[in-house]
Amino acid sequence: MVLAIHYDDSINSFSGRWVEFCKKNSIEFIEVDCYASDILEQLHDCDALFWNWNNSDYKAKKFARQLVYSLEMMGKKVFPNSNTCWHYDDKVGQKYLLEAVDAPLVPTYVFYDKESAFSWVEKTSFPKVFKLSSGAGAVNVKLAYTKEDAKKLVRQSFGKGFSQLDRVASFEDKFNAWMRDKNSTTLRTAFKAFGRIFIPTEFENMEGKELGYIYFQDFIPNNDFDIRVITIGNRAFALKRMCRTGDFRASGSGMIVYEKEHIDDRCVSIAFDVSKKLGTQSTAYDFVFDVDGNPLIVEISYAFSVLAYDKCQGYWDAELNWYEEEIKPQDWMIEDLLVSL
Ligand SMILES: Nc1ncnc2c1ncn2[C@@H]1O[C@H](COP(=O)(O)OP(=O)(O)O)[C@@H](O)[C@H]1O
Ligand SMILES: [Mg+2]
Repeated sequence: MVLAIHYDDSINSFSGRWVEFCKKNSIEFIEVDCYASDILEQLHDCDALFWNWNNSDYKAKKFARQLVYSLEMMGKKVFPNSNTCWHYDDKVGQKYLLEAVDAPLVPTYVFYDKESAFSWVEKTSFPKVFKLSSGAGAVNVKLAYTKEDAKKLVRQSFGKGFSQLDRVASFEDKFNAWMRDKNSTTLRTAFKAFGRIFIPTEFENMEGKELGYIYFQDFIPNNDFDIRVITIGNRAFALKRMCRTGDFRASGSGMIVYEKEHIDDRCVSIAFDVSKKLGTQSTAYDFVFDVDGNPLIVEISYAFSVLAYDKCQGYWDAELNWYEEEIKPQDWMIEDLLVSL
């Protein structure tokens, strides 16, 4: 049995930890280049591929799902597999998927022409949350306070469209991270983000504008945090993310609470339940709470930041037993896949 790993040296890639785990446990693996045209040939003698592609990789977004599916057709195992990744960075896809399995998704609306969108805007209540289908760290998420706000967004969605990266919002987040924790890394990151306000990134040039649809969710008020639960097979771990000051958005704030007593068990239970229905290997769920205190999902994602979860104090199993020990998400991904082989 031979595994293939697409290695990249970014600090937030799962791949470094996959390589470490294989070396430590004498699991035979080779490094492959998923971007190469002969990737199928490279994988000829391998049983499984591990590739942590992410939403800021415009190249991967063009073919990762297609490659994964094709490998599955050849009988290869993949992490992430199709069930796990087809809806990644695709909030529109997630709307249909979560509705299909009766998951408690925040009521979500999507329109593909101006007229239908306008007619809905006339009838609905405000505020609503407007999102682009792609994006992370809340950069493409904002409130439409009024009907007029919503109409403006509709016109832009079916007009000049939206950049996939809100550069000013990105800078504000990096600047606030530096204000909270003044060190050379946060300063460098903030400087870089400032420079980027004026120069479009390669990502934006390659991805083009986002347009031709509009996505809204009901605004679930009075949440000054969200709860993020991640399931990997029969294990789940979680954290609480506080919202930016004076803002309803938690993801990307960098303000994280790790103690277990902050996590509502119902979120863990829903996450296990939905992951089982979806047949996913790794899924992160963002939860907010409605006015009656019930958890609702706002979005899901197979990938997550590597470092942010290292401080989790333990994990649950599928029966919701708690294990207070170091979590090893990347190791678990390999362990689970080995079992399936
Ligand atoms: N419908 C909603 N009602 C209230 N808050 C929301 C809603 N949707 C998202 N949020 C808040 O905004 C944040 C970002 O939204 P999310 O859909 O998770 O986008 P991203 O992919 O950028 O993380 C969430 O972490 C949550 O705090
Ligand atoms: Mg999120």
